[in-house]
Amino acid sequence: MCGIVGFTSRSASAVGPLVSGLRRLEYRGYDSAGVALECDEGIKVFKQTGKVAELDALLKKELPEEERGKFTVGIAHTRWATHGLPTTVNAHPHIADGGSLALVHNGIVENYAALRSGLEKHGVKFVSQTDTEVLAHLVATFDKGDLLAATCEALKRVEGTYGIALISAKHPGEMIVARKGSPLVIGVGEKDIVVASDVSAIVAYTRQVIYLKDGDVARITPDGVDIHSLDFSPVSREVQEVDWDIGAIEKGGYEHFMLKEIFEQPDALRNTIRGRLDAGEGTAILSGLNLRPRDLAAVRRLVIIGCGTSLHAGMVGKYLFETLADIPASAEQAAEFRYCNPIVGPDDWVIALSQSGETADTLAAVRESNRKGALVSGLCNVVGSTIAREAGRGVYLHAGPEISVASTKAFTAQVTALLMTALKLGRTRRLSLEEGVKLVAEIERIPDLISEVLKKSDDIAKIAEKYAKADDMFFIGRGILYPAALEGALKIKEVAYVHAEGYQAAELKHGPIALLGEETPVVALLSDIAGKEKTLGNVQECRARRAPVIGIVTEGDAAAAAAVNDAITLPRTSAPIAPIVTAVALQLLAYHVARLRGCEIDQPRNLAKSVTVE
Ligand code: G6P
Repeated sequence: MCGIVGFTSRSASAVGPLVSGLRRLEYRGYDSAGVALECDEGIKVFKQTGKVAELDALLKKELPEEERGKFTVGIAHTRWATHGLPTTVNAHPHIADGGSLALVHNGIVENYAALRSGLEKHGVKFVSQTDTEVLAHLVATFDKGDLLAATCEALKRVEGTYGIALISAKHPGEMIVARKGSPLVIGVGEKDIVVASDVSAIVAYTRQVIYLKDGDVARITPDGVDIHSLDFSPVSREVQEVDWDIGAIEKGGYEHFMLKEIFEQPDALRNTIRGRLDAGEGTAILSGLNLRPRDLAAVRRLVIIGCGTSLHAGMVGKYLFETLADIPASAEQAAEFRYCNPIVGPDDWVIALSQSGETADTLAAVRESNRKGALVSGLCNVVGSTIAREAGRGVYLHAGPEISVASTKAFTAQVTALLMTALKLGRTRRLSLEEGVKLVAEIERIPDLISEVLKKSDDIAKIAEKYAKADDMFFIGRGILYPAALEGALKIKEVAYVHAEGYQAAELKHGPIALLGEETPVVALLSDIAGKEKTLGNVQECRARRAPVIGIVTEGDAAAAAAVNDAITLPRTSAPIAPIVTAVALQLLAYHVARLRGCEIDQPRNLAKSVTVE
């Protein structure tokens, strides 16, 4: 979603670093961009709708190279419109105090209307429709000589969420940043300090970072970082080292991040699994959960929450917990869960799934579950993210940064992490040592099984050619493969803009079958596990309506291959692993269809990588 970058240096120009920082954040999704730069003469603001490239072109036109050196402090932003259309006026930075203060903001000021009318009564004129402009004016109003104190005063009056960065010509060389519910990271380089809402905009400069906590407000100068709480008392935050480098967020020869991340899955999952399996005891070692056997034994029900792809991984988790740990489980869309006054309490274990660890609805559901006394844990990819921190305990995916908006490696890592969690829970219950040992061996094979699927990429591309023109598709699966059908449909919607629906194989005949015909391909998930025969029956029903069927079938399963028009063959696996290998094949199908349709694969229209608004 929206992205923030800030830069301050004693000698280097801020222009280049700000623009390249914005480029690193492009994957998050946005519709306008802007920068504010400070020099001795004051603050200059440049804003543009559309892509960062267009902002860069504007800067090249308006700011000749020889002038750039004088701007050593600046802030920049990519905006994903919430309050007001994606226009240049609504783009950030927003200015106040006659143009001497500029501010960028992620999040939502919920009481902005009340704050705005209060300011208007005192003669403040607003030019945009945004909630952010209120913040700029509010800070300016409280500025009596100390910018940090003014920011604290302003933020005390704000309801909602924010990550902000601001500069003021009255306080040259200073940048103030603050966070509440929206991430902000400070990169402490040897010569320069870089601030961003996402660490991927920082690692080109330094891997030494400070993760601000909610309620922190920091004054940043080229000399250092000075962090306070909103009540103005100093706080100290440790400098941490990011455990990956710039290579992880570059395409590395791949045409798209999505393809790179699909192909990274064997390594990503090796990292998810590493050190977490105990082959002797047939169990998993998940120390981040920090749960004793007696805590696990006391759990009566599991509730898995998430949004989008994470929700689908959670739906696989439901089957895993019920079959391996004999425990009732449900997977709930986080916003629905949160607003239905959920019945959860001390006997329930709520597992929040989130790649980014910042999804607003999932975070709110975590808070609701904590309030109700449930055992809460997070299963996140981004280290130090808000959900990971607020959940207090959990399992990091260690899948490496995911840049493509469409989630791929996070899904397979989430399912694998859930599988290990179910194994651990199962072993405190009725799962035998023998079954546990067998499952450990299967989990260890997952990376190699995925490598086998990746070898099929060219075959899948050929099948994609046959169906790339379809405007509607169905994905059907049964049992543990049903969530994989939903995820397959989601992937092709997201990146190829094909209208697709995932259905329980048995449900298709209860209505949707009316839509089938020659132009409506059906992707049938036919791994050779329990339920396959029934799904084959559903395939016949589709073919009888002339719908072409693409089958995801197990190698050597001639009957399944013969029942479909086109077969994608996958290595044989047990049921818990089947959704993982299936998902990889469906990711490749979506990718190849999107490529053939000429779509903007890594940044699909209207989508954001991390949805930080409810
Ligand atoms: C957005 C992304 C999806 C993602 C979902 C949940 O909608 O576009 O790819 O699955 O958010 O994100 P999370 O970071 O919580 O897994």
